[in-house]
Amino acid sequence: MVKIRVENAWKEYKKKSEIVQALKNVNVEFEAGKIYAIIGRSGSGKSTLLYNIGLMDTLTKGSIYFNEKNVSQLNDKEKSRLRMKEIGFIFQGFNLNKNLKVNENILLPMFINEKYTKEKRKEKVRALLEMLDIGDKANRFPRELSGGEEQRVAIARALANEPEVILADEPTGNLDEENEKIIFEILKKLSLGGKCVIVVSHNPEIKEYADKIFEMNNGELSKNLY
Ligand SMILES: Nc1ncnc2c1ncn2[C@@H]1O[C@H](COP(=O)(O)OP(=O)(O)O)[C@@H](O)[C@H]1O
Ligand SMILES: [Mg+2]
Repeated sequence: MVKIRVENAWKEYKKKSEIVQALKNVNVEFEAGKIYAIIGRSGSGKSTLLYNIGLMDTLTKGSIYFNEKNVSQLNDKEKSRLRMKEIGFIFQGFNLNKNLKVNENILLPMFINEKYTKEKRKEKVRALLEMLDIGDKANRFPRELSGGEEQRVAIARALANEPEVILADEPTGNLDEENEKIIFEILKKLSLGGKCVIVVSHNPEIKEYADKIFEMNNGELSKNLY
């Protein structure tokens, strides 16, 4: 059961002559079996926090712990190995490979991992598509799907290596209300199944699903609102 702790996190970006403080002393904990929402204005630092938790960026100052292990100290190779094993990422724009079919998109992270046999990989793709109610879309290309279906494929891909942590950055930003509800319900279900789910969203609807809500304001994270 994973536990994530962000401690005194600062992130500074240099843009030409300007310095942007994207994170200002953020302290927060996330547990398995819960879904967390991070809301806040555009440019407030939400993605920066998520990408740092997802080991896709490096803090300027401070630490991130996975189960009391300080992961901010790891080198790039160690970070990518841990990311592959522990983290599933879901993006606003789905980020599917357009030249690969649905099943191939989901297989891809499993090839990199080498954790499963060929048979097991095929079985996992089938089970994931089934679980997400797109079992009949395995041989389609992304362009042959609706936005909601594309995002479900992206979720299947994020789950392929059975990560403990699911990070979603505005996952419903490109979707209509009906699909937004479907995606939030899937994320909620994943948290109830034991995953640690962190969702960045503009969408006030996320409040209905989240166990805890934080607001990011100009690089500072609020105490949880409720
Ligand atoms: N790679 C980067 N280089 C320079 N500045 C960046 C970079 N990424 C983010 N920023 C800046 O950091 C601040 C926070 O950005 P971000 O985390 O993307 O906010 P949000 O996701 O809340 O919209 C913004 O001022 C943004 O312009
Ligand atoms: Mg963002």
